[in-house]
Amino acid sequence: RSLFIYITSVCCSLPDLFSYSPAAGDGSGIEFSTASEGRITGIRVWEYNNYWGGYISGFQLRYESNWTAEVGVNSGNPMEMILYDKEAIIQISGKYYSGYIYELVFVTNQGRLFKVGQSNGASFNFYPIQKGNELRFLSGRQNGSGITSIGAHWSGITYFKLNQA
Ligand SMILES: *[C@@H]1O[C@H](CO)[C@@H](O)[C@H](O)[C@H]1NC(C)=O
Ligand SMILES: *[C@@H]1O[C@H](CO)[C@@H](O)[C@H](O)[C@H]1NC(C)=O
Repeated sequence: RSLFIYITSVCCSLPDLFSYSPAAGDGSGIEFSTASEGRITGIRVWEYNNYWGGYISGFQLRYESNWTAEVGVNSGNPMEMILYDKEAIIQISGKYYSGYIYELVFVTNQGRLFKVGQSNGASFNFYPIQKGNELRFLSGRQNGSGITSIGAHWSGITYFKLNQA
């Protein structure tokens, strides 16, 4: 099955190298982007707990062996998922409510699921237009208290291999 996906992404990625899942959430505060070199190999997310529940306060991604700068606020114990070799994020869903992102669910091409936060508010569901593409980076806004919006940028494995050469 993974061989099939690889061939698909090589043969068909030229007309549609990128896609963008427009940001969900109210989006107060300042912009962030995690765009970096290499493949995404891990995700770390912080959740802020208060009396009415928790929202996503901060996160960082790992590219190859390097973690990006922390986005938002990072306190308490992070939840973390490290990807396997050739594992990639192919879908992100979640919920936002009352100014913050409350839930993030990352799905990989190996069928693993990494879920953080509270199932609270309006839903969003992000995935690449092109089958076989994977998450390249996240962008959105954070306001110094938490993540207020999030969007996803996808591309094929062919593109970023060429791009890194
Ligand atoms: C990781 O960070 C090191 C040290 O800053 C840097 O030399 C290296 O190029 C980075 N690797 C990638 C894949 O960005
Ligand atoms: C960030 O946004 C939330 C939700 O709108 C708000 O309650 C909070 O006060 C804001 N924080 C800052 C530092 O502006």
